[in-house]
Amino acid sequence: MLYSALFLALVAQRVVLVQATACNATSPCPASAPCCSEYGFCGDGHFCLGGCDPFASNTLDSCRPMPVCKDAEHTFPNNDRILSNSTMFDGNATEYDWVVDKGTIFNTNTTGGELALALTQDNGGTRISSTRYMHYGTVTANLKTGRWGGVVTAFITMSDIKDEIDWEFPGAATTEAQSNFFWQGVIPTDTSHGDTTKDLSDTFDNYHAYTLDWQPDAITFSIDGNVVRTVNAKDYVDGNGGSQFPNTPARIQISLWPAGIDSMPSGTVEWAGGMINWDDADYKSAGHFYALLKSVSVKCGDTETPGPNITSYIYDSNSSTPSILMSNHTTLLNGGFRTASSSLNVAHIAFVVAGLLLSVYL
Ligand SMILES: *[C@@H]1O[C@H](CO)[C@@H](O)[C@H](O)[C@H]1NC(C)=O
Ligand SMILES: *[C@@H]1O[C@H](CO)[C@@H](O)[C@H](O)[C@H]1NC(C)=O
Ligand SMILES: *[C@@H]1O[C@H](CO)[C@@H](O)[C@H](O)[C@H]1NC(C)=O
Ligand SMILES: *[C@@H]1O[C@H](CO)[C@@H](O)[C@H](O)[C@H]1NC(C)=O
Ligand SMILES: *[C@@H]1O[C@H](CO)[C@@H](O)[C@H](O)[C@H]1NC(C)=O
Ligand SMILES: *[C@@H]1O[C@H](CO)[C@@H](O)[C@H](O)[C@H]1NC(C)=O
Ligand SMILES: *[C@@H]1O[C@H](CO)[C@@H](O)[C@H](O)[C@H]1NC(C)=O
Repeated sequence: MLYSALFLALVAQRVVLVQATACNATSPCPASAPCCSEYGFCGDGHFCLGGCDPFASNTLDSCRPMPVCKDAEHTFPNNDRILSNSTMFDGNATEYDWVVDKGTIFNTNTTGGELALALTQDNGGTRISSTRYMHYGTVTANLKTGRWGGVVTAFITMSDIKDEIDWEFPGAATTEAQSNFFWQGVIPTDTSHGDTTKDLSDTFDNYHAYTLDWQPDAITFSIDGNVVRTVNAKDYVDGNGGSQFPNTPARIQISLWPAGIDSMPSGTVEWAGGMINWDDADYKSAGHFYALLKSVSVKCGDTETPGPNITSYIYDSNSSTPSILMSNHTTLLNGGFRTASSSLNVAHIAFVVAGLLLSVYL
Protein backbone atom coordinates (compact mmCIF):
# COMPACT_ATOMS: atom_id res chain seq x y z
CA MET A 1 0.00 0.00 0.00
CA LEU A 2 2.56 2.53 1.09
CA TYR A 3 6.25 2.57 1.32
CA SER A 4 7.64 4.44 4.22
CA ALA A 5 11.22 4.89 3.28
CA LEU A 6 10.46 6.74 0.11
CA PHE A 7 8.87 9.59 1.96
CA LEU A 8 12.09 10.34 3.72
CA ALA A 9 13.74 10.13 0.35
CA LEU A 10 11.55 12.97 -0.88
CA VAL A 11 12.59 15.16 1.99
CA ALA A 12 16.25 14.45 1.43
CA GLN A 13 15.94 15.24 -2.27
CA ARG A 14 15.54 18.90 -1.51
CA VAL A 15 18.96 18.95 0.05
CA VAL A 16 20.69 17.04 -2.71
CA LEU A 17 18.88 18.56 -5.67
CA VAL A 18 21.13 21.55 -6.11
CA GLN A 19 24.31 19.55 -6.39
CA ALA A 20 23.43 16.39 -8.29
CA THR A 21 21.99 14.95 -11.48
CA ALA A 22 19.01 12.64 -11.30
CA CYS A 23 19.53 8.95 -12.03
CA ASN A 24 17.55 5.77 -12.54
CA ALA A 25 18.07 2.42 -14.23
CA THR A 26 17.38 3.81 -17.69
CA SER A 27 19.43 6.93 -17.08
CA PRO A 28 22.45 5.87 -15.00
CA CYS A 29 25.07 8.20 -13.55
CA PRO A 30 28.04 9.57 -15.55
CA ALA A 31 31.60 8.47 -14.72
CA SER A 32 32.26 11.89 -13.17
CA ALA A 33 29.60 11.30 -10.48
CA PRO A 34 29.31 7.53 -10.65
CA CYS A 35 27.03 6.59 -7.78
CA CYS A 36 23.23 6.82 -7.74
CA SER A 37 22.15 7.45 -4.14
CA GLU A 38 19.01 5.96 -2.66
CA TYR A 39 17.39 9.33 -3.32
CA GLY A 40 18.05 9.03 -7.06
CA PHE A 41 20.89 11.54 -7.49
CA CYS A 42 24.42 11.09 -8.82
CA GLY A 43 27.52 11.78 -6.77
CA ASP A 44 30.68 10.38 -5.29
CA GLY A 45 31.85 9.68 -1.73
CA HIS A 46 28.94 8.86 0.57
CA PHE A 47 26.64 8.55 -2.46
CA CYS A 48 28.45 5.23 -3.02
CA LEU A 49 27.62 3.83 0.44
CA GLY A 50 24.37 2.51 1.96
CA GLY A 51 21.45 2.83 -0.43
CA CYS A 52 23.59 3.31 -3.55
CA ASP A 53 21.64 1.71 -6.41
CA PRO A 54 24.01 -0.46 -8.47
CA PHE A 55 21.65 -0.63 -11.46
CA ALA A 56 21.38 3.15 -11.76
CA SER A 57 25.05 3.89 -11.10
CA ASN A 58 27.74 4.30 -13.74
CA THR A 59 28.83 0.68 -13.63
CA LEU A 60 27.69 -2.28 -11.62
CA ASP A 61 30.70 -1.88 -9.31
CA SER A 62 30.42 1.88 -8.75
CA CYS A 63 28.66 1.42 -5.40
CA ARG A 64 30.93 0.27 -2.60
CA PRO A 65 30.65 -3.37 -1.52
CA MET A 66 27.96 -3.83 1.14
CA PRO A 67 29.19 -4.75 4.66
CA VAL A 68 28.36 -8.41 5.26
CA CYS A 69 25.85 -9.49 7.93
CA LYS A 70 27.00 -10.27 11.45
CA ASP A 71 24.84 -11.74 14.20
CA ALA A 72 24.27 -9.03 16.80
CA GLU A 73 22.27 -7.98 19.84
CA HIS A 74 22.13 -4.22 19.57
CA THR A 75 21.18 -2.33 22.71
CA PHE A 76 21.39 1.37 23.41
CA PRO A 77 22.99 2.09 26.79
CA ASN A 78 24.36 5.15 24.99
CA ASN A 79 24.71 6.26 21.39
CA ASP A 80 28.37 5.36 20.94
CA ARG A 81 27.67 2.84 18.17
CA ILE A 82 25.59 5.33 16.18
CA LEU A 83 27.11 7.86 13.79
CA SER A 84 24.92 10.93 14.09
CA ASN A 85 25.39 12.03 10.47
CA SER A 86 25.40 9.39 7.72
CA THR A 87 27.21 11.66 5.28
CA MET A 88 30.30 11.37 7.52
CA PHE A 89 30.36 7.57 7.26
CA ASP A 90 33.48 6.08 5.67
CA GLY A 91 32.13 2.56 5.19
CA ASN A 92 33.71 1.01 8.29
CA ALA A 93 30.90 -1.12 9.72
CA THR A 94 33.13 -2.24 12.58
CA GLU A 95 33.25 1.28 13.88
CA TYR A 96 29.50 2.02 13.80
CA ASP A 97 26.45 -0.23 13.85
CA TRP A 98 24.04 2.51 12.78
CA VAL A 99 24.02 5.84 11.00
CA VAL A 100 21.43 8.60 11.32
CA ASP A 101 20.21 9.36 7.79
CA LYS A 102 18.20 12.32 8.93
CA GLY A 103 16.59 13.79 11.99
CA THR A 104 17.38 13.69 15.68
CA ILE A 105 18.10 10.92 18.15
CA PHE A 106 18.65 10.97 21.87
CA ASN A 107 18.98 8.48 24.68
CA THR A 108 16.26 8.47 27.34
CA ASN A 109 18.02 5.87 29.47
CA THR A 110 14.96 5.31 31.65
CA THR A 111 15.51 1.55 31.78
CA GLY A 112 19.26 1.35 31.18
CA GLY A 113 19.22 2.68 27.67
CA GLU A 114 16.53 3.43 25.10
CA LEU A 115 17.09 5.14 21.81
CA ALA A 116 14.51 7.82 21.06
CA LEU A 117 13.77 8.88 17.48
CA ALA A 118 12.27 12.36 17.36
CA LEU A 119 9.89 14.03 14.95
CA THR A 120 9.45 17.78 14.99
CA GLN A 121 7.69 20.15 12.66
CA ASP A 122 11.12 21.19 11.39
CA ASN A 123 13.16 17.99 11.22
CA GLY A 124 10.85 16.07 8.87
CA GLY A 125 11.29 12.86 10.87
CA THR A 126 14.19 10.65 11.89
CA ARG A 127 15.61 7.53 10.32
CA ILE A 128 18.51 5.32 11.32
CA SER A 129 20.02 2.61 9.10
CA SER A 130 22.21 -0.33 10.02
CA THR A 131 25.71 -0.10 8.58
CA ARG A 132 25.62 -3.83 7.79
CA TYR A 133 23.35 -5.56 5.36
CA MET A 134 21.56 -8.83 5.77
CA HIS A 135 20.93 -11.29 2.98
CA TYR A 136 18.15 -13.27 4.58
CA GLY A 137 17.93 -13.73 8.31
CA THR A 138 15.85 -12.94 11.34
CA VAL A 139 15.66 -9.48 12.83
CA THR A 140 13.67 -8.49 15.90
CA ALA A 141 13.13 -4.94 17.15
CA ASN A 142 11.83 -4.21 20.64
CA LEU A 143 10.12 -0.89 20.33
CA LYS A 144 7.39 1.46 21.47
CA THR A 145 5.58 3.31 18.71
CA GLY A 146 4.26 6.83 18.51
CA ARG A 147 0.58 7.40 19.32
CA TRP A 148 -0.30 10.44 17.27
CA GLY A 149 -2.47 10.66 14.18
CA GLY A 150 -0.38 11.22 11.06
CA VAL A 151 2.83 10.08 12.77
CA VAL A 152 4.14 6.71 11.54
CA THR A 153 6.67 4.47 13.25
CA ALA A 154 8.44 1.99 10.95
CA PHE A 155 10.85 -0.92 11.27
CA ILE A 156 11.88 -2.23 7.87
CA THR A 157 14.55 -3.89 5.78
CA MET A 158 15.45 -2.06 2.57
CA SER A 159 17.81 -3.16 -0.19
CA ASP A 160 19.72 -0.91 -2.55
CA ILE A 161 17.37 -1.90 -5.38
CA LYS A 162 14.37 -1.42 -3.08
CA ASP A 163 13.41 -4.87 -2.02
CA GLU A 164 11.62 -4.01 1.20
CA ILE A 165 10.01 -5.76 4.17
CA ASP A 166 8.02 -3.67 6.64
CA TRP A 167 6.50 -3.40 10.02
CA GLU A 168 4.61 -0.10 10.11
CA PHE A 169 2.59 1.60 12.81
CA PRO A 170 0.27 4.46 11.91
CA GLY A 171 0.08 6.43 15.15
CA ALA A 172 -3.71 6.67 15.35
CA ALA A 173 -4.04 2.88 15.75
CA THR A 174 -1.94 1.83 18.73
CA THR A 175 -3.36 -1.67 18.98
CA GLU A 176 -2.37 -2.59 15.43
CA ALA A 177 0.74 -3.51 13.48
CA GLN A 178 0.90 -3.55 9.69
CA SER A 179 3.17 -5.84 7.69
CA ASN A 180 4.09 -5.41 4.07
CA PHE A 181 6.75 -6.20 1.47
CA PHE A 182 7.89 -4.90 -1.91
CA TRP A 183 10.04 -6.25 -4.69
CA GLN A 184 12.37 -3.80 -6.43
CA GLY A 185 10.17 -0.85 -5.45
CA VAL A 186 7.23 -2.02 -7.54
CA ILE A 187 3.86 -0.97 -6.15
CA PRO A 188 1.74 -4.12 -6.44
CA THR A 189 -1.54 -4.08 -8.29
CA ASP A 190 -3.23 -6.38 -5.80
CA THR A 191 -3.67 -5.89 -2.06
CA SER A 192 -2.13 -9.17 -0.92
CA HIS A 193 1.17 -7.61 0.09
CA GLY A 194 -0.15 -5.68 3.08
CA ASP A 195 -1.76 -7.07 6.22
CA THR A 196 -2.84 -5.79 9.64
CA THR A 197 -2.48 -7.56 12.98
CA LYS A 198 -5.01 -6.30 15.53
CA ASP A 199 -5.74 -6.44 19.26
CA LEU A 200 -2.20 -5.82 20.51
CA SER A 201 -1.76 -4.29 23.93
CA ASP A 202 -1.12 -0.59 23.36
CA THR A 203 2.00 -0.24 21.20
CA PHE A 204 2.85 3.18 22.67
CA ASP A 205 2.64 2.06 26.30
CA ASN A 206 4.17 -1.38 25.83
CA TYR A 207 7.28 -2.79 24.29
CA HIS A 208 6.59 -5.55 21.82
CA ALA A 209 9.13 -7.67 19.97
CA TYR A 210 8.42 -7.34 16.24
CA THR A 211 10.18 -9.95 14.14
CA LEU A 212 10.86 -10.21 10.41
CA ASP A 213 12.08 -13.69 9.53
CA TRP A 214 13.22 -13.38 5.92
CA GLN A 215 14.21 -16.61 4.20
CA PRO A 216 14.57 -17.42 0.49
CA ASP A 217 11.24 -19.23 0.41
CA ALA A 218 9.16 -17.24 2.90
CA ILE A 219 8.85 -14.22 5.15
CA THR A 220 7.39 -14.88 8.59
CA PHE A 221 6.15 -11.96 10.68
CA SER A 222 5.94 -12.48 14.45
CA ILE A 223 5.01 -10.39 17.46
CA ASP A 224 6.35 -11.35 20.89
CA GLY A 225 7.38 -14.70 19.48
CA ASN A 226 3.98 -15.55 18.01
CA VAL A 227 3.75 -15.96 14.25
CA VAL A 228 1.07 -13.65 12.88
CA ARG A 229 1.69 -13.99 9.16
CA THR A 230 3.64 -16.01 6.59
CA VAL A 231 4.27 -14.90 3.00
CA ASN A 232 5.49 -17.62 0.64
CA ALA A 233 7.81 -16.75 -2.26
CA LYS A 234 6.13 -19.32 -4.50
CA ASP A 235 2.95 -17.24 -4.43
CA TYR A 236 4.77 -14.29 -6.02
CA VAL A 237 6.10 -15.76 -9.23
CA ASP A 238 5.72 -13.48 -12.24
CA GLY A 239 4.63 -14.41 -15.75
CA ASN A 240 8.23 -15.12 -16.78
CA GLY A 241 8.94 -17.50 -13.95
CA GLY A 242 10.92 -14.96 -11.89
CA SER A 243 10.17 -14.48 -8.22
CA GLN A 244 8.88 -11.05 -7.24
CA PHE A 245 10.04 -11.57 -3.71
CA PRO A 246 12.73 -9.67 -1.76
CA ASN A 247 16.05 -11.36 -2.54
CA THR A 248 18.83 -8.74 -2.35
CA PRO A 249 20.93 -7.66 0.67
CA ALA A 250 19.11 -5.12 2.79
CA ARG A 251 19.84 -2.68 5.58
CA ILE A 252 17.68 -2.48 8.70
CA GLN A 253 15.97 0.88 9.10
CA ILE A 254 13.96 2.32 11.97
CA SER A 255 12.11 5.56 11.50
CA LEU A 256 9.51 7.97 12.78
CA TRP A 257 8.06 9.98 9.93
CA PRO A 258 5.32 12.50 9.26
CA ALA A 259 2.66 11.09 6.94
CA GLY A 260 -0.03 13.58 7.99
CA ILE A 261 1.35 16.71 6.38
CA ASP A 262 0.29 18.89 3.43
CA SER A 263 2.86 17.52 0.99
CA MET A 264 1.65 13.92 1.32
CA PRO A 265 -1.02 12.38 -0.94
CA SER A 266 -4.47 12.36 0.67
CA GLY A 267 -4.56 8.55 0.72
CA THR A 268 -1.36 8.48 2.75
CA VAL A 269 -2.68 11.09 5.17
CA GLU A 270 -5.87 9.10 5.66
CA TRP A 271 -3.95 5.83 6.13
CA ALA A 272 -1.78 7.46 8.78
CA GLY A 273 -4.76 8.72 10.77
CA GLY A 274 -5.13 12.25 9.49
CA MET A 275 -3.12 15.44 9.65
CA ILE A 276 -0.61 15.79 12.48
CA ASN A 277 -1.80 18.00 15.32
CA TRP A 278 1.23 20.08 16.19
CA ASP A 279 -0.73 21.48 19.15
CA ASP A 280 -0.95 18.02 20.72
CA ALA A 281 -0.24 18.20 24.47
CA ASP A 282 2.49 15.55 24.20
CA TYR A 283 4.21 17.56 21.50
CA LYS A 284 3.87 20.79 23.43
CA SER A 285 5.32 19.34 26.60
CA ALA A 286 8.20 17.33 25.09
CA GLY A 287 8.92 19.53 22.10
CA HIS A 288 8.81 16.54 19.78
CA PHE A 289 6.96 13.34 18.97
CA TYR A 290 9.00 10.19 19.54
CA ALA A 291 9.33 6.43 19.25
CA LEU A 292 11.55 4.34 21.54
CA LEU A 293 13.87 1.54 20.52
CA LYS A 294 15.15 -0.80 23.22
CA SER A 295 16.98 -3.44 21.19
CA VAL A 296 17.50 -4.92 17.76
CA SER A 297 18.62 -8.51 17.43
CA VAL A 298 20.03 -9.83 14.17
CA LYS A 299 20.50 -13.48 13.24
CA CYS A 300 22.03 -13.72 9.76
CA GLY A 301 20.49 -16.17 7.33
CA ASP A 302 22.96 -16.25 4.46
CA THR A 303 22.32 -19.26 2.24
CA GLU A 304 25.99 -20.12 2.63
CA THR A 305 28.37 -19.66 5.54
CA PRO A 306 30.79 -16.81 4.81
CA GLY A 307 34.46 -17.80 4.86
CA PRO A 308 36.83 -16.12 7.35
CA ASN A 309 37.88 -13.34 4.99
CA ILE A 310 34.46 -12.41 3.67
CA THR A 311 33.70 -8.76 4.33
CA SER A 312 31.00 -7.80 1.88
CA TYR A 313 28.25 -8.54 -0.60
CA ILE A 314 28.41 -7.32 -4.18
CA TYR A 315 26.02 -7.37 -7.12
CA ASP A 316 27.28 -9.51 -9.96
CA SER A 317 24.62 -9.02 -12.59
CA ASN A 318 22.28 -6.32 -13.72
CA SER A 319 18.99 -8.04 -14.38
CA SER A 320 15.61 -8.47 -12.79
CA THR A 321 17.01 -11.59 -11.15
CA PRO A 322 20.18 -10.11 -9.67
CA SER A 323 22.93 -12.42 -8.52
CA ILE A 324 24.72 -11.58 -5.30
CA LEU A 325 28.27 -12.57 -4.44
CA MET A 326 30.05 -12.66 -1.12
CA SER A 327 33.48 -11.03 -1.42
CA ASN A 328 36.59 -10.14 0.55
CA HIS A 329 36.65 -6.62 -0.88
CA THR A 330 36.78 -3.73 1.51
CA THR A 331 33.67 -1.70 2.17
CA LEU A 332 35.67 1.44 2.93
CA LEU A 333 35.20 4.50 0.73
CA ASN A 334 38.96 4.90 0.37
CA GLY A 335 39.72 1.24 0.28
CA GLY A 336 40.39 0.75 -3.40
CA PHE A 337 37.92 -0.32 -6.03
CA ARG A 338 37.01 -3.70 -7.29
CA THR A 339 37.29 -4.23 -10.99
CA ALA A 340 35.17 -6.51 -13.07
CA SER A 341 38.11 -8.77 -13.82
CA SER A 342 39.61 -9.03 -10.34
CA SER A 343 39.86 -12.52 -8.96
CA LEU A 344 37.24 -12.64 -6.29
CA ASN A 345 37.12 -14.83 -3.28
CA VAL A 346 33.44 -15.41 -3.67
CA ALA A 347 30.50 -17.65 -3.41
CA HIS A 348 28.13 -17.24 -6.30
CA ILE A 349 24.45 -17.40 -5.74
CA ALA A 350 22.00 -17.17 -8.60
CA PHE A 351 18.28 -16.70 -8.25
CA VAL A 352 16.30 -18.56 -10.81
CA VAL A 353 12.93 -19.60 -12.11
CA ALA A 354 9.57 -20.53 -10.80
CA GLY A 355 9.88 -19.04 -7.33
CA LEU A 356 12.41 -21.67 -6.41
CA LEU A 357 15.86 -20.79 -5.35
CA LEU A 358 18.69 -22.63 -6.99
CA SER A 359 22.11 -22.08 -5.55
CA VAL A 360 24.96 -22.33 -7.99
CA TYR A 361 28.40 -22.38 -6.51
CA LEU A 362 31.17 -21.25 -8.83
C1 LIG B 1 14.88 8.39 -15.58
O1 LIG B 1 15.59 9.61 -15.53
C2 LIG B 1 15.46 10.38 -16.72
C3 LIG B 1 16.41 11.56 -16.61
O2 LIG B 1 16.24 12.23 -15.41
C4 LIG B 1 13.99 10.80 -16.89
O3 LIG B 1 13.84 11.54 -18.08
C5 LIG B 1 13.14 9.54 -16.95
O4 LIG B 1 11.78 9.89 -16.96
C6 LIG B 1 13.39 8.65 -15.75
N1 LIG B 1 12.71 7.39 -15.93
C7 LIG B 1 11.97 6.86 -15.00
C8 LIG B 1 11.38 5.51 -15.31
O5 LIG B 1 11.76 7.40 -13.93
C1 LIG C 1 21.72 -2.08 -16.36
O1 LIG C 1 20.99 -2.56 -17.45
C2 LIG C 1 20.24 -1.54 -18.07
C3 LIG C 1 19.36 -2.22 -19.12
O2 LIG C 1 20.11 -3.13 -19.86
C4 LIG C 1 21.17 -0.49 -18.65
O3 LIG C 1 20.43 0.54 -19.26
C5 LIG C 1 21.99 0.10 -17.51
O4 LIG C 1 22.95 0.99 -18.02
C6 LIG C 1 22.71 -1.00 -16.73
N1 LIG C 1 23.32 -0.42 -15.54
C7 LIG C 1 24.53 -0.73 -15.11
C8 LIG C 1 24.97 -0.05 -13.86
O5 LIG C 1 25.25 -1.54 -15.67
C1 LIG D 1 26.05 16.24 8.02
O1 LIG D 1 27.34 16.52 7.53
C2 LIG D 1 27.34 17.25 6.31
C3 LIG D 1 28.78 17.41 5.88
O2 LIG D 1 29.30 16.18 5.52
C4 LIG D 1 26.67 18.58 6.51
O3 LIG D 1 26.61 19.26 5.26
C5 LIG D 1 25.27 18.38 7.04
O4 LIG D 1 24.70 19.62 7.35
C6 LIG D 1 25.31 17.53 8.30
N1 LIG D 1 23.95 17.25 8.69
C7 LIG D 1 23.52 17.47 9.91
C8 LIG D 1 22.10 17.14 10.19
O5 LIG D 1 24.25 17.91 10.78
C1 LIG E 1 37.41 0.31 11.46
O1 LIG E 1 37.04 0.65 12.76
C2 LIG E 1 37.62 -0.18 13.75
C3 LIG E 1 36.97 0.19 15.07
O2 LIG E 1 37.03 1.55 15.29
C4 LIG E 1 39.11 0.02 13.74
O3 LIG E 1 39.72 -0.82 14.72
C5 LIG E 1 39.65 -0.34 12.38
O4 LIG E 1 41.02 -0.03 12.30
C6 LIG E 1 38.92 0.44 11.29
N1 LIG E 1 39.32 -0.08 10.01
C7 LIG E 1 39.94 0.66 9.11
C8 LIG E 1 40.38 -0.05 7.90
O5 LIG E 1 40.09 1.86 9.27
C1 LIG F 1 22.25 4.55 31.03
O1 LIG F 1 22.06 3.78 32.19
C2 LIG F 1 22.99 2.72 32.33
C3 LIG F 1 22.58 1.86 33.51
O2 LIG F 1 21.96 2.63 34.48
C4 LIG F 1 24.38 3.32 32.50
O3 LIG F 1 25.33 2.29 32.60
C5 LIG F 1 24.68 4.14 31.25
O4 LIG F 1 25.93 4.78 31.36
C6 LIG F 1 23.62 5.19 31.01
N1 LIG F 1 23.84 5.81 29.72
C7 LIG F 1 23.78 7.13 29.54
C8 LIG F 1 23.97 7.61 28.15
O5 LIG F 1 23.60 7.91 30.44
C1 LIG G 1 42.48 -14.87 4.82
O1 LIG G 1 43.43 -13.82 4.88
C2 LIG G 1 44.64 -14.20 5.53
C3 LIG G 1 45.50 -12.95 5.67
O2 LIG G 1 45.23 -12.01 4.69
C4 LIG G 1 45.30 -15.28 4.67
O3 LIG G 1 46.51 -15.69 5.29
C5 LIG G 1 44.37 -16.48 4.58
O4 LIG G 1 44.91 -17.44 3.72
C6 LIG G 1 43.01 -16.06 4.03
N1 LIG G 1 42.08 -17.16 4.11
C7 LIG G 1 41.26 -17.47 3.11
C8 LIG G 1 40.37 -18.63 3.36
O5 LIG G 1 41.23 -16.85 2.05
C1 LIG H 1 40.76 -11.53 -1.65
O1 LIG H 1 41.02 -12.88 -1.96
C2 LIG H 1 41.84 -13.04 -3.10
C3 LIG H 1 41.88 -14.51 -3.46
O2 LIG H 1 41.91 -15.30 -2.30
C4 LIG H 1 43.23 -12.45 -2.80
O3 LIG H 1 44.06 -12.58 -3.91
C5 LIG H 1 43.05 -10.98 -2.46
O4 LIG H 1 44.29 -10.43 -2.06
C6 LIG H 1 42.05 -10.79 -1.33
N1 LIG H 1 41.77 -9.36 -1.18
C7 LIG H 1 41.70 -8.78 -0.01
C8 LIG H 1 41.33 -7.32 -0.03
O5 LIG H 1 41.89 -9.37 1.04
